[in-house]
Amino acid sequence: MTTRERVLRALLDSPTEFVSGQSLAAELGISRPAIWRHMAALKGQGYELEAITGKGYRLPQRPDVLSKEEILCRLETESFGRALRVLAEVGSTNDEAKAWAMAGCPEGAVVAADTQTGGRGRRGRAWASPAGKGVYVSVVLRPRAAPAALGQLSLLMALATARAIRESTSLTVSTKWPNDVWVDGRKVAGILLEADADLEQVRSAVVGIGINLSLSAEDLPAQVRRTATSLNQAAGRPVPRAPLVCALLREMETVYGQFSSGHVARLLAECRALEVCLGRPVSVELGKQSLQGTAEEIAAGGELILRLASGETRAFMAGDVSLRPRETGAPESRHEPATE
Ligand code: BTN
Repeated sequence: MTTRERVLRALLDSPTEFVSGQSLAAELGISRPAIWRHMAALKGQGYELEAITGKGYRLPQRPDVLSKEEILCRLETESFGRALRVLAEVGSTNDEAKAWAMAGCPEGAVVAADTQTGGRGRRGRAWASPAGKGVYVSVVLRPRAAPAALGQLSLLMALATARAIRESTSLTVSTKWPNDVWVDGRKVAGILLEADADLEQVRSAVVGIGINLSLSAEDLPAQVRRTATSLNQAAGRPVPRAPLVCALLREMETVYGQFSSGHVARLLAECRALEVCLGRPVSVELGKQSLQGTAEEIAAGGELILRLASGETRAFMAGDVSLRPRETGAPESRHEPATE
């Protein structure tokens, strides 16, 4: 940890008590003016510090600052996020991460941003990324796996995101194949995996995660307003970004470790247990094709198995799934019909 991170850690660990500048200086082996300079820099980043002569420093309010220092001083991973860029504004964190991957960054390198001006979703859709209202993070991976395994990897990254959201909020979280995360029957997060690969090998993959925290209806494109929600609304409280990003990176690292060593059976079972589509009538769209049937299974490779009315099955590696009303005609209790 750098000295700045240790200063911030001391303040975060002591939200009610004042931290004495003198004892902090002694503990960190630096001068009191140096402590003062770190405090001023933190203030400049948006941390609203209270300073009282003779008492010290305190961080009474916990502003939702997405800073490199706060992520690093909370991070529990070995490699994910240890190389880290936190930007105020970027076109797309995925593009920034891809460029960094091409330039040789280590596996697990992370780009996070406060806002994206060109945030992308799957299938060329825009991903609304207003400042401070969401988590926009991309992680560089170098999987020693065949390109065919990327679908499974992206499914597992959605699982990691679902776990991180559940741990950070205690909400009941589900996933929707291939890689959406839902709370309260609505989408709260999505994953965009983009790879630099040929037919035989994957040189690098960038996993981009977007989590809606406080996006209002006006922030969202009209076509997703009915089907999207925000984490703060679902949790009934503001969910701070830095701890959420740290939980996300921890879960991603754990899941990726198991994926890399081929231990995916339990993870896939967890994916199936969280999946909203299974056993339900759905439409699957892929390119110009649209097929209707029952979502029967998530196969070992992460494919969605659709049973058609004819009794035949089809396996999908990719596609967009919409839930359809159950055949009984009974209205859905939890989910909206025909959601994206
Ligand atoms: C989807 O559900 O369609 C996937 C959305 C992925 C959005 C994230 S935000 C961080 C990263 N940068 C991007 O431009 N997209 C991903």
